[in-house]
Amino acid sequence: MFTRTTFAAATAALLMTGSAAMAGPKAEVLHWWTSGGEAKAVAVLQKEFADNGGEWTDMPVAGGGGDAAMTALRARVLSGNPPTAVQLKGPAIQEWYAEGVLADISDVAKAEGWDKILPPAIAKHMKCDGKWCAAPVNVHRVDWIWANADILKKYNIKMPTTWAEFNAAADKLKAAGVTPLAHGGQAWQDATVFEAIAKGILGADGFRKAFVELDTATLTSDKMIAVFDQMRKMRGYVDDNFSGRDWNLATAMVMNGEAAFQIMGDWAKGEFMAAGKVPGKDFLCGATPGGGFLYNVDSFAMFKVAGADRQAGQKLLAKLIVGKNFQKVFNLYKGSIPVRTDVSLDDFDVCAHKSAADMAAASADGSLLPSYAHGMALRSAQSGAITDVVTAFFNSDMSSADAVKALAKAVKNSL
Ligand code: BGC
Repeated sequence: MFTRTTFAAATAALLMTGSAAMAGPKAEVLHWWTSGGEAKAVAVLQKEFADNGGEWTDMPVAGGGGDAAMTALRARVLSGNPPTAVQLKGPAIQEWYAEGVLADISDVAKAEGWDKILPPAIAKHMKCDGKWCAAPVNVHRVDWIWANADILKKYNIKMPTTWAEFNAAADKLKAAGVTPLAHGGQAWQDATVFEAIAKGILGADGFRKAFVELDTATLTSDKMIAVFDQMRKMRGYVDDNFSGRDWNLATAMVMNGEAAFQIMGDWAKGEFMAAGKVPGKDFLCGATPGGGFLYNVDSFAMFKVAGADRQAGQKLLAKLIVGKNFQKVFNLYKGSIPVRTDVSLDDFDVCAHKSAADMAAASADGSLLPSYAHGMALRSAQSGAITDVVTAFFNSDMSSADAVKALAKAVKNSL
């Protein structure tokens, strides 16, 4: 029978459901965008979210490359309290999906026509078992050399197009007392330089064999020995204080004329731009030698959470991230290019134009490569195993021949 008490309880429940459904979208967002350029970029998303009635709780975890952010994420998921939205990319998306903790955002993707506006090569990273499980933000290119324009001019150096040219320029600068390479000795930065060299020396097929297929013959080849030889040269081009330095401080060295070059993804351009520097005038960008294109796509995955307000927040966030306006404004700050091919690049700089043109060419000739150093190619256990060897090599006097042996062993143990 329907008593007065049950009626009251039912009304209260109805009211609660009503108010929960009416509460504005909410999102707690875990990301690692804390440098000057990165903070300007993520502020664009925060503003769009707020303009659309959303309530954003920021969870920034400092640390370039996102290693610290991923540790924080594991702790939150293990404690049964995942953040609403997480900066997550590459195979890590599918790894988390396999744990059963990711939300399905296919309804947003379908309503927004993502299949039509995203290149298939990028869309595939956002799908889990045929469902959409992440929203892509941008395309970062990893294999860039950034240079201080005045230093190159002063020493009559052209942007290097081969590793031999790079070494000749670096030797000349070093002899003149200028630090050739701004670098931060953190494992992920070592890996970033290493994979750019590997792309050039191994070529696209060799890179894929080594860092996608984990082919032992390629990992131990003479060419891989040559990759480590070039890494050893790089060690001679950094300053004495490189250990532990954050990547954006290395970028600042190039900006301030304390070093000539940095090898880093185009989030470095975000730093130059945030400091008001002009590409082509104050700083130069060039692809690292050897053709090809190493891509790194930032994306957000939504974790399974309770509450209509938080689920509404996830849908809103996913929709905004792939939205045309956001894709343009965010990427102007971030240094990357839009993931959507229908966003005009008119307002973008010369480096962004080069990125888009090189990416299209690489896609056409089969040299579009996923960055292993930025989590696009391998599961974290495997990329971590490779990076451990690279870092151990960079910080010791290990021979290149021993390094390739260690590489093959580490990869085998990680499988
Ligand atoms: C991310 C970028 C970020 C960079 C430095 C990369 O792995 O993809 O968005 O700016 O790390 O933190």
